[in-house]
Amino acid sequence: MTFTSDKMRFWSPEVRELEPYVPGEQPKIQNLLKLNTNENPYPPSPKVVAAVQAVLANNADALRLYPDPDATVLKQAIAQQQNVNIDQVFVGNGSDEVLAHIFKAFFIQKEPVLYADITYSFYPVYSQFFSTQTKQIPLNEKFEIDVSDYTQENGGIIITNPNAPTSIALGLDQIERVLKANPDRVVLIDEAYVDFGAESAVSLVNQYENLVVCQTTSKSRSLAGLRVGFAIAQSHLIAALEAVKNSFNSYPIDRFAIAAAVASFEDQEYFETQCQKVIESREHLVSDLTALGFEVLPSKANFIFATHPQHDAALLAQQLRDQGIIVRYFNKPRINQYLRITIGTDEQNQRLVDTLKTHVL
Ligand SMILES: Cc1ncc(COP(=O)(O)O)c(C=O)c1O
Repeated sequence: MTFTSDKMRFWSPEVRELEPYVPGEQPKIQNLLKLNTNENPYPPSPKVVAAVQAVLANNADALRLYPDPDATVLKQAIAQQQNVNIDQVFVGNGSDEVLAHIFKAFFIQKEPVLYADITYSFYPVYSQFFSTQTKQIPLNEKFEIDVSDYTQENGGIIITNPNAPTSIALGLDQIERVLKANPDRVVLIDEAYVDFGAESAVSLVNQYENLVVCQTTSKSRSLAGLRVGFAIAQSHLIAALEAVKNSFNSYPIDRFAIAAAVASFEDQEYFETQCQKVIESREHLVSDLTALGFEVLPSKANFIFATHPQHDAALLAQQLRDQGIIVRYFNKPRINQYLRITIGTDEQNQRLVDTLKTHVL
């Protein structure tokens, strides 16, 4: 909706200039196959559903009383699963909120924060929101992050690993090079997709006092509807995040989300089985799409980034949409011939492949 400048006079001047993030659409189409927002195709652990039901069943005050502002039981569950101390864990309402607090806590500096030219599109939005100086570092011609670009003067560094929407992962040796080259700046590793085959930098947290790792329950734990994200870092960095959080919203995680996320972290076996299924389906889909002439970047995520030399990507996205299949298309320089496709179940992926064969290619 747009308004005349007369109506906009009530808005704070800087809000008039904001360019907000545009989330992937959640359309209501019958028989829709939604492969556009990297949600998990499987439900969360049955123990998660039971835990949510138990919140209401066991506690008549569940809705009347505020939740624990520190979400201590959730931090404990995450600390145990990640093998860190509880004072090394921060939780927020989705990793988007955790990222916002990270920007506020560490990235308002005189020098520019460095991140890739092709990466998660919320970083530029937060950069504008928090008046963060930034410098975008081009990925190389293979769409990889070249860590030697991250040694120049900066006010902080963001590396998405695996990167999105390109799906390519860096090894921990590369991450360590960035950490060592920037001892006086916070290096944020956004690991939203790490559980689908990449190496987590959480194992480095005790070694590097400048490292913050951010993860989410939205993808690998099938809890996008719950909104629980978390950060792992040494306690001096967590303390800054707590200060920011308690200056913004003291109760970001509600009782249902706390109970559900705890149950998810306690059901490690289910988590590992589901991640493995997605990884296997990904490899299968990559080989099917390659056989159809697509070029697919090497993915360690629950999505792939693919281009077809003979078919325009925007047109492909539209033709798939006409058949009830939604994938993500970014009309942006360098990647406007690529499609980002979320990994579905084997049946869903087969529908995509069959549709491409019969109606599109
Ligand atoms: C790289 C990256 N980071 C963070 C997020 C935010 O995830 P959430 O707010 O659901 O935890 C996303 C979501 O798509 C993402 O792609």
